[in-house]
Amino acid sequence: MMERLQVCKKPADPLILGHGYREKVGKGILKMKTEKKEGRWEGLRSFRTLFPYLRSYKKWLFVGILSLAIVDALQLCIPLIIKWAVDDLTEGRATSAVLLSYAGWILLLAVGIGGFRYLWRMSLMTPTRRIEKRLRNRLFQHILSMSEDFFMRHSSGDLMARMVNDLNMIRMAVGFGMVGMMDAFVMGSATLVFMIWISRSLTLYILIPMPLLVLSTALISRRIHFRAQKVQKQFSALTEAVREGISGIRVIRAYKAEPFQESTVKLEGEKLLQENLALAKVRGIFFPVLMLLVNLSMVLVLYFGGKDTILARISPGDFVAFTNYLMLLTWPMMAMGWVISLIQRGAASLTRINEILDSRPSIQSTPRAPLKDEVTGELRVENVAFSYDPRQWVLKDCSLTVERGKMTAIVGEIGCGKTTLLLLMMRVFDPREGVLRLGDRDIRDFDVAEYRGLFAYVSQEPVIFSQTLFENIAFGQSGITEYEVEKALRTVQLWEEVAGFPEGIKTLVGEKGVTLSGGQRQRVALARALLSKRPFLVLDAPFSSVDVSTEQKILEAIRSEFRGITLIMSSQRVASFMKADRIFMMEGGKVCASGSHQDLMEQSEAYRALIQEITLGIGKR
Ligand SMILES: Nc1ncnc2c1ncn2[C@@H]1O[C@H](COP(=O)(O)OP(=O)(O)OP(=O)(O)O)[C@@H](O)[C@H]1O
Ligand SMILES: [Mg+2]
Repeated sequence: MMERLQVCKKPADPLILGHGYREKVGKGILKMKTEKKEGRWEGLRSFRTLFPYLRSYKKWLFVGILSLAIVDALQLCIPLIIKWAVDDLTEGRATSAVLLSYAGWILLLAVGIGGFRYLWRMSLMTPTRRIEKRLRNRLFQHILSMSEDFFMRHSSGDLMARMVNDLNMIRMAVGFGMVGMMDAFVMGSATLVFMIWISRSLTLYILIPMPLLVLSTALISRRIHFRAQKVQKQFSALTEAVREGISGIRVIRAYKAEPFQESTVKLEGEKLLQENLALAKVRGIFFPVLMLLVNLSMVLVLYFGGKDTILARISPGDFVAFTNYLMLLTWPMMAMGWVISLIQRGAASLTRINEILDSRPSIQSTPRAPLKDEVTGELRVENVAFSYDPRQWVLKDCSLTVERGKMTAIVGEIGCGKTTLLLLMMRVFDPREGVLRLGDRDIRDFDVAEYRGLFAYVSQEPVIFSQTLFENIAFGQSGITEYEVEKALRTVQLWEEVAGFPEGIKTLVGEKGVTLSGGQRQRVALARALLSKRPFLVLDAPFSSVDVSTEQKILEAIRSEFRGITLIMSSQRVASFMKADRIFMMEGGKVCASGSHQDLMEQSEAYRALIQEITLGIGKR
């Protein structure tokens, strides 16, 4: 039975969905109800990822929140002083000295508010920046631990967008969003207390529009969450289009495809604009609705408060203070709209980040055996089947044995599965059927990282980093000397060329090694593999851009300098693979013939045909 290769998209953590989801699946209406709830709560639940980080900055947060509360308290004192001043004025108690002292108090409060506002910004914004950095590091570490199929599902642009834009949104949500929410809550409730203290009935009037506020907030915030997620998704698509356009610039130029590439980016940009506008429309509704409700409260205060003042139920000072408090209440009400939209955008981004953090590598490490004892054994591929697409096998019933200390070549038509077989040997993928053994153990019994550590690998497309030649070759290893790098470069016949560079091995090679030729890139990748001194050397068509005589020299140098190394090579060059101790020829996803070049020439019709195709450049090649 062939399962789907793609990892199921359903979130791994049941917390995200709530208990109902799994139990009620299949029970139509109940399931829909649960999913509706999920839409409402899933976003906010995603914030659970941040709790451990927030906890680690609890001192900063405490100081910040305390300062915020002090700012709010000081702000609330101002209407009180105004009330006293107005009452003194209307009741004839006011003198210039009294008024001056009130003014002095307000000045003092203003200075205090400024100072504490600075303090809360510093002590709340610093942790949010740090949380953003730590979350980014964790995300990148997690991405690095993912298996190959993860990268087949997520484009570089998408991952880049998540690492930059989504994390930025999350920082805003925590920094301004959560803080603003707390401010709105503290300020709003304290203001209400003061209002109730002045007049209970008047406070009741201004609360009449409140249920409307709650209802509209709930409705609009759900739309914002939905829209924000679409914006972030489209941002990923745009980032990927731009990345592809820049990294493929040479081909784009060669094919004069600039207008096409430009239109692709324009199209993605247009879609992003539309998504952003749709989001802006929903967010735009918030403020007018809020302001309408605030003004409605003001109308009620003017009418009922004015009447109360005339009837002397409250003093003119109370009336002025009450309107001032209403103005103070405007901020929390307005902030709520802004804050909810920020939090919803942050929640949408966190959902996308959690999607990555919740995914598990499809290759699991379940070590059951230490690697040391098995290192000397043969590497055996036994009746292995593998597919990328569930509808089509790439390897089927494929078997071969790699002898230690020998040179093994894998040959066959283009696309017959050579690279795939090498990747299975290094456990980049696990087979769908069959087993690979090292010694007598299934390779799945070893720790994945330890097992992969046995292989030095040169991929078919050499991977070069935008660092110096030295750093590229010593890659990932510490304590490598210039002499060792030089030696490796000599083995791959590159030393003389590098010595001719103005900066020698300190030369910066540019992004993806653009300053090097194709053959130089291949040899840099090979030098890196040799320097890592691992027992298996896996070379996937490593000499396709190197001339035949250089290739021969390199192979001879490797075999004489690295005696005992197990060399596994996929190749299209007769001159190189004919020297292998054992050649495996692949056809139809399996090994159809094996032996030395001599044996195969004598016994295998298919092999002779392949050699003829390669040398004469005919047939399907
Ligand atoms: N990531 C992938 N997703 C889907 N199909 C893939 C993927 N990689 C390879 N394939 C398919 O698997 C088959 C074997 O590919 P593979 O790269 O192993 O062939 P190969 O023998 O190394 O070819 P070449 O001689 O060109 O290097 C091909 O038909 C290819 O289209
Ligand atoms: Mg290949």
